[in-house]
Amino acid sequence: MPVKDGLITIDEALEASKEQVKEWYKKYFNPSFELILELAEFDAIYDKADGTTVYADGQSYLDFLGGHGAVGISHNHPEILASIQKVMGRPNILQAALSPLTAALAKNLALITPGDLEKSFFCNSGAEAVEGALKIARAATGRKKIIYAENSFHGKTFGALSATGKKKYQNPFKPLVPEFEAVPFGDSEALEQKLSQSEAAAFIVEPIQGEGGIILPPQGYLKEVERICRKYRTLLIMDEIQTGLGRTGKMFACEYEDVEPDVICLAKALGGAAVPMGAYVVTDKVWQRAYGGIDRCLIHTTTTFGGTAWGCAAALATINVLCRDSSRLIHEAKDKGEYFLTEFKKLDKFDVIKETRGKGLMIGVEFNQPRIAKGKINQLFKEYFAQLVVSQLRNKYNVLSVYTLNNPNVIRFMPPLTVNKEDIAYTVSSLEKLCLEGFSGTLIAGGMRAGKQMGGGNDRKQHLSQSLHDQLANPLEEINLPNLLTILRLFLIPVFIYLVLSPQNRLDLAALTLAIAGATDWLDGFTARRLGKVTEFGTFFDPLVDRLLIFSVLALGFIKEIVPLWTVMVIFGRDIFMILGYQYLRARKKKLSLTFLGKGTTALIAVSFVLLLLKIPLGLWLFYLSVLLSFVSGLDYFRKGLGKLRGAG
Ligand SMILES: Cc1ncc(COP(=O)(O)O)c(C=O)c1O
Repeated sequence: MPVKDGLITIDEALEASKEQVKEWYKKYFNPSFELILELAEFDAIYDKADGTTVYADGQSYLDFLGGHGAVGISHNHPEILASIQKVMGRPNILQAALSPLTAALAKNLALITPGDLEKSFFCNSGAEAVEGALKIARAATGRKKIIYAENSFHGKTFGALSATGKKKYQNPFKPLVPEFEAVPFGDSEALEQKLSQSEAAAFIVEPIQGEGGIILPPQGYLKEVERICRKYRTLLIMDEIQTGLGRTGKMFACEYEDVEPDVICLAKALGGAAVPMGAYVVTDKVWQRAYGGIDRCLIHTTTTFGGTAWGCAAALATINVLCRDSSRLIHEAKDKGEYFLTEFKKLDKFDVIKETRGKGLMIGVEFNQPRIAKGKINQLFKEYFAQLVVSQLRNKYNVLSVYTLNNPNVIRFMPPLTVNKEDIAYTVSSLEKLCLEGFSGTLIAGGMRAGKQMGGGNDRKQHLSQSLHDQLANPLEEINLPNLLTILRLFLIPVFIYLVLSPQNRLDLAALTLAIAGATDWLDGFTARRLGKVTEFGTFFDPLVDRLLIFSVLALGFIKEIVPLWTVMVIFGRDIFMILGYQYLRARKKKLSLTFLGKGTTALIAVSFVLLLLKIPLGLWLFYLSVLLSFVSGLDYFRKGLGKLRGAG
């Protein structure tokens, strides 16, 4: 066969420029992924790694992303590399043979896993390990139902996905595997209720939800789960793919509650950050029921790459390094994790940080998204704010981190277990500096990228980023079009009052003034949305000016006997509550959004008054309608405000 033109050799691949690699990504791999990397400014080629550090473009970076947990001990750990070196030259793949490495690894896993876990199955990824665990549960129990936790993440193959509590990942692939049902995470009563209603083969759960946003269940939950599963003869599958092998300061996170699952799933760190490696370990009893006997021993338990020599060698070395010196590395991970979390907790004082939480070296920082704009830009910030912080941490402070899949407001820090305290302190101080700067750089960069995301040209991008920057940096920029319109409305109020009360009784001109004032209200909302400019002044004064206008209109309407007193009282009642509630919530950093109903009512009051001043009879009917709507929207705001306060704790 002729050599294809343009076929790339390994040496050419290693030498390829960044631009070239991006082109290949766009054309042959995953263009949107390339775009995401570019937007996050993560589009670097790292060409060296050791310990906690990775290198790109002549710079070093602290890797607190840790391969989503797959970089367990460290990058390129010498003993792990040496163990792979030792088996090079042997057949890496030869399934129909005895392998001392497979056998030894299985024995080691039986020794380090909790309780009676004894038999292992080897594969290449977490999803495969979960897949295997779900299958053995059905095969061993003869039951079909699988119960899983909401907000969980177990992988993206069909079975694992069916147990993953995130619709975004499930929906495009439906129908999924039948008989999977969710219960809330951390709620043992809900689990008991579910298991008492129907016979389930297994309950699969993460001891700490990783991709869910580093969510720790309440103390005692896992032990209670174990008790409930035993009671209803449902197998307990513990997914320790992210938490296992020392990550949380114990070999397995379920050991914090002395839980002995029926099946444990492992992957990520098992491969020593060198080779893909996954496994489940199960009790002999469950194994025998499912696959005992010659006719059944191969129905699930083989996979082409399961238990390669390189994979087993790396896993053997990983376990030995972890267990050495009475598991010193794991104990240290616990101490370092406690230090990390204590330091991080000091950042809770910043409004932008909602919570810091975690166990061992598995730590999440959850952000409140600052409201900086209206409409689509704000939506982008809502979804990507933590990603913007992640970008800034990398690009300003050379620290790598990542947000969690199910909850993009949480940044996860999972450095290699060998990380030192200085690097932890540096990472915390880097995030602190970003908080102190008020994330202005983050927002500028975000503005640029938001512009790009929204498909604008260069000018638009510049404009968006500039407007975001200006809001934060330059108080003079409070003087923008939406705010000028609000100020104009403020000045129109005395003009309106004068015209109504003037001896010439200029109601026609008053109607015109009111119409203009009403139009500025609509226009400032519209322009603010277009410009992405909602400033402090705007948020504070716009509703105040609107209420002032409405109050003047109603007061004059009453004085001039255009409308009866009780109607004025209804609208006054709503508006006074609204304005007090709005500013009170605002002071507590909670936002009460104006509803369509509320805004529409205000507009209707203005329109009906314009008609009333012009003595058009329809005005009165519209006014009565707006009184009714005022009452309804008032109740609605009251309900919403209470909800916000409850949410505020
Ligand atoms: C708890 C858990 N289970 C399963 C998986 C799936 O692992 P993999 O990506 O190797 O398929 C993950 C991956 O993040 C995980 O965190």
